[in-house]
Amino acid sequence: MSWKVLITHRLLPEATAYLKKRVNVEFCPEKGVLSKRDIISRIGDKDGLLCLLTDEIGRDIIEAAPRLRIIANCAVGTDNIDLASSRQKGILVTNTPGVLTETTAELTWALILAVARKIPQADIFTRQKSFKGWKLDLFLGKDIQGKRLGIIGLGRIGKAVAHRAAAFGLEIFYYDRRRLSLEEEKKYRAAFLPLDDLLRTADIISIHASLTEESHHLISAKKLRLMKKDAFLINVARGPIVDEKALADALEEGRLWGAGLDVYEREPVIEKKLLRLKNVVLLPHLGSATFETRLKMAMAAAKNLVQGLRGERPDNLVN
Ligand code: DGY
Repeated sequence: MSWKVLITHRLLPEATAYLKKRVNVEFCPEKGVLSKRDIISRIGDKDGLLCLLTDEIGRDIIEAAPRLRIIANCAVGTDNIDLASSRQKGILVTNTPGVLTETTAELTWALILAVARKIPQADIFTRQKSFKGWKLDLFLGKDIQGKRLGIIGLGRIGKAVAHRAAAFGLEIFYYDRRRLSLEEEKKYRAAFLPLDDLLRTADIISIHASLTEESHHLISAKKLRLMKKDAFLINVARGPIVDEKALADALEEGRLWGAGLDVYEREPVIEKKLLRLKNVVLLPHLGSATFETRLKMAMAAAKNLVQGLRGERPDNLVN
């Protein structure tokens, strides 16, 4: 009970209550998020930190935290945390995998369908009272059935997207650093292709890789040029995997049919050109945003934190 914990963001009430019964929650902002400077000024005497993917937990924070034993990230991605410095200082890092897989796959499909059928644009049109009657050529979109889906990163979320793709009648191809076993490829009806071939042949490219040095700008200007002119790109993984400026140029110049983005290179800043373009659907990083899943994420992060402080092996240890 004497462990001191810092939470960088208002949590859901159930998770805050869980923590308050077990640890000394020294600080949890009522509103908003703590800035880096706030975190540094409060972390000195803390044993545990519960943070979000928007908190950049770098060497400066880790060095200001001599007592810190665990960083519990409330996200599956841990690209916001300096894992090398944490390891050096013997600090445990945890994440929240599994609980958000299906929810993120559902949002991926929402984006694929929204782009293919121009749903946001059609909604605005209808609200603006521009609908004057059925027309043969009103808001023509693209069929999904029979098309080739190219998944980049066939991990948990990529597989959940592939699982749903079968019901929509798509052919499924994937690229991953690590090829799946033949058994798994069969299970997900997914055929491996080298990245360039995947980009050249897919009608829909959907990104589900994690952000690493290797995947930074994996989809560069050069790679975008490989894509078919009538293909579209979906990114619900991490913004920096795509060169956002190059994507905006490709969309503006009509070298790509469309895009659906939930994540951005410099969140919450979005490349200005994208905001003006009509062939892109933009969401504010909502992949896991359902009541059920966000509660599971907050509870998983809180449990990981308590387990780590108690000297137990946390359920979702990353390092
Ligand atoms: C994660 O957990 O990494 C997701 O991006 C949250 O939606």
